[in-house]
Amino acid sequence: MARSVNRALPNLGKALAIAAGQTGAKVICAGRRKDRIQQTAEEVTKAGGVGTAVEMDVTDPKSVEKGVKQAEKSGPIEILINNAGIITGLKPVQELPIEEWDKIMATNVRGPYLLIRAILPGMLQRGFGRIVNISAPIKHLPKATAYCASKCALDSLSKAVSYEVKGTDVLVNAVEPPFLDTEMHKGGKKPEEVVPQILELAALETGSQSGRIVKLA
Ligand SMILES: NC(=O)c1ccc[n+]([C@@H]2O[C@H](COP(=O)([O-])OP(=O)(O)OC[C@H]3O[C@@H](n4cnc5c(N)ncnc54)[C@H](OP(=O)(O)O)[C@@H]3O)[C@@H](O)[C@H]2O)c1
Repeated sequence: MARSVNRALPNLGKALAIAAGQTGAKVICAGRRKDRIQQTAEEVTKAGGVGTAVEMDVTDPKSVEKGVKQAEKSGPIEILINNAGIITGLKPVQELPIEEWDKIMATNVRGPYLLIRAILPGMLQRGFGRIVNISAPIKHLPKATAYCASKCALDSLSKAVSYEVKGTDVLVNAVEPPFLDTEMHKGGKKPEEVVPQILELAALETGSQSGRIVKLA
């Protein structure tokens, strides 16, 4: 299901990037497919922001380190949205190949960990940061064990980090979008419909709540 065929379908990351662009933001569009991130970055710029494409595989520490360094050339990273995620076809746990489990966990949990690890120190040093982790409402769906486990782990990561940075102006929250009509799922809400709620969390006022897992309507 992930990285599958229809390249014309939108995704949540792209919708978030363009909407952020409309506010005039500098937006780093990170991902593995150069053509896709380049196109999104151009659309961000057309929308009134400044889009920059940065090739990155979130599962790979070297790629994350290099990508973050490249991104920081545009300025300090104030907001991190951990959106990259994959799911694979439904299958009973005993038939789930170990490589598939590892790949899902690497993308959906290790990726956000690596990015937080790379970006949080700068946020703490500057005394400001907003982190939004894109989780999912699916937490216990039979035959989707790896995806469910990965999103539960992401929620835990999100809350634990928020407690670690309590008392600072770095706020860490997670969101559970409903089914979205994207390359991943096909069918459901348009990604644009949940974008305002996610961007609200990315722009929380100082003193706002942190460590929340917010169910999106
Ligand atoms: N669609 C839904 O119904 C739904 C519902 C709830 C939550 N979510 C969550 O929302 C997020 C976005 O999902 P979506 O529906 O927009 O999925 P999507 O259309 O499949 O997009 C996934 C994005 O993740 C990127 N990605 C995947 N693996 C990556 C890697 N190793 N390194 C860097 N980027 C990687 C992909 O870019 P490249 O392939 O170019 O790298 C793509 O931009 C995911 O975390 C998903 O779990 C989705």
